Amino acid sequence: MSEEKEEKPIKPPVKPPTPISTKPVTPTPTTIQKIAKTIPPPKPVQPLPIVKPLPRRDFIKYASIAGGILSIIPFIPFGSFFTYRGVLKEEAQKIILADGNFANIKTFPVNSSATFPYPRTGDPVRDSEPFRQFVLIRLPKELGGDREEISSFRAYSNICVHLWCLWRYSPQYKNLQCPCHASIYRVEDGLAIKGPAALQTPPQNALPMLELDVDDKGFILVKPPVWDVNGNGVVGFGRYIKRK
Ligand code: FES
Repeated sequence: MSEEKEEKPIKPPVKPPTPISTKPVTPTPTTIQKIAKTIPPPKPVQPLPIVKPLPRRDFIKYASIAGGILSIIPFIPFGSFFTYRGVLKEEAQKIILADGNFANIKTFPVNSSATFPYPRTGDPVRDSEPFRQFVLIRLPKELGGDREEISSFRAYSNICVHLWCLWRYSPQYKNLQCPCHASIYRVEDGLAIKGPAALQTPPQNALPMLELDVDDKGFILVKPPVWDVNGNGVVGFGRYIKRK
């Protein structure tokens, strides 16, 4: 009797473990690290400039200028500035008073005044613009206002040449008085004789003035003006007073 030997399964050879290197590992640069190298280093931050507070004197000066500009804004004829196109046709016009009547040398009282629009357009909005307001004055008796002739009258722009407030005629003091900064103008020629308007150099120290005429019925007419400082003046700016 033969005995068969039992075969043993063959085991695969076992690989010896890879020895762990003890050398230091040099890391290879990644893509992010490569990109990071191309970015320039940030610049050092500059310190912000130190803002000094405005000195009190300068602050008051700038506040005064701003206040002055704001005070004249209501008097600026924005309507004209935004809508005016071309040259207005100006011709001799009768002076129309607030009551709707034309001014007449036979009825206009001595030493009195009345405001009227010039040049009159017939449009109530435009005719009420401050830069279109003039004041007709009949001189007091001592300045010849009782004579029934056109030399007894004056017509000045109502805009003060200082900062554009509206002045008023004073029958008591027989001069033109601005309520804003107390400038005073002479009634006979519109020259500023007191206040800040009087300190301005010509032609900025006299009111623009219209030339007047009279028709055969006594109605007062405004002759077509020359809007120039050497002519009838520039409204809000001034006029050279001609020496006689
Ligand atoms: S606006 Fe200043 S004095 Fe008339």
